[in-house]
Amino acid sequence: MKFKRVNLFYYSPTHTTQKIINEIAIGIGIDPLKQIENNLTYPEYADSIIEAEPDDLVVIGAPVYAGRIAIEALQRLSKIRFAGNPAVLVAVYGNRHYDDALIDLREMACAAGLRPVAAAAFIGEHSYSTRDFPVAKGRPDAEDKQAAREFGRKVYEKVQSLSTKTELPALALPGAFPLPERRVLPEAFAETIFEKCIECGRCEIVCPTGAVFFKKGYQTDVSKCTLCCACLKECPRKARVINSEHVQNIREALATKCNVRRLPEIFI
Ligand SMILES: Cc1cc2nc3c(=O)[nH]c(=O)nc-3n(C[C@H](O)[C@H](O)[C@H](O)COP(=O)(O)O)c2cc1C
Repeated sequence: MKFKRVNLFYYSPTHTTQKIINEIAIGIGIDPLKQIENNLTYPEYADSIIEAEPDDLVVIGAPVYAGRIAIEALQRLSKIRFAGNPAVLVAVYGNRHYDDALIDLREMACAAGLRPVAAAAFIGEHSYSTRDFPVAKGRPDAEDKQAAREFGRKVYEKVQSLSTKTELPALALPGAFPLPERRVLPEAFAETIFEKCIECGRCEIVCPTGAVFFKKGYQTDVSKCTLCCACLKECPRKARVINSEHVQNIREALATKCNVRRLPEIFI
C-alpha cells in the first residue's frame, strides 16, 4: 500500500512518548514535509488537529498509567475522525510494565475504524522518577531511539507490502482481553510550595488537563489533576510537589523493584 503522509497523534505530558513517536517517524522515512504531528497533550489540542485522510499512515502514541493507556489520551483519541487508515500503536511505560495497555490501544483503534498493522511498547523515564528515586532515568536513550527508528523501518516495509484491500488479521498483542476494570490511581494531587514559586506560570501552561490556575498563587483543581507530573518536571524552581505518602511509597518501590533495564518490544 502506498501512503502519502504519516499522521502522528500522541499524548505526552512528560515528552517521552513524543520522543519515541518522532524517532519512529524518522524510521518510516517519509519526507518530513509529509509528516503531520498532532500533539493531543494540551487542553486546546482540538484547535490544531489535522485529521487523517484515506492515504495516511496513522501512528498513535500514549503513556501507560496503572497498566492501561492514560484515560485522557483515550478520550482525546476517540474524538478524532479517522478514515479506515492502517495504524501503528505505541505505548510508552516507565520500566515497570505495560500490562494491558496495548490491548487498550488496539480496542480504541478498532472502534475508531483504524486498521492496526503494528504495535510496540517502549520505555520512558518514569513520571514519578526523582533524583533520589530514579526510575528509567534519561530514557528513551540512544539505544531506545535506535530501536524506535528500526521499528519505523519495519513498519514502512510491512505497509508497502499490503494492498489497500488486504484484510488484516487481528493484531495479536499481550495483555488481558476482555479488558479488566481499571485500577484506581492514588488519591493525591500536585501542589505548589509557595515559598519557592516565582509565579512564572509554567505549571499552568504544561498541565494537560487545565488543573492548574492562579488565585493568590498557583493552585490545583484536585478533581482535574491526573498525577502526570508534567508540572513537577517542568517547574524551574522545583516548587511543584506531590505531598502524598502513598505516592512516595510507590516511588521508593519502583526505584528498588524496577531497576532492571526493560527493552522495547515490537509486534509486527
Ligand atoms: C499516574 C501514572 C501511572 C503510571 N503507571 C505506570 C505503569 O503502570 N507502568 C509503568 O511502567 N509506568 C507507569 N507510569 C510511567 C509512565 O508510563 C512513563 O513515565 C511514561 O514514559 C510517561 O509518558 P510521557 O512522558 O509521554 O508523559 C505511570 C505514570 C503515571 C503518571
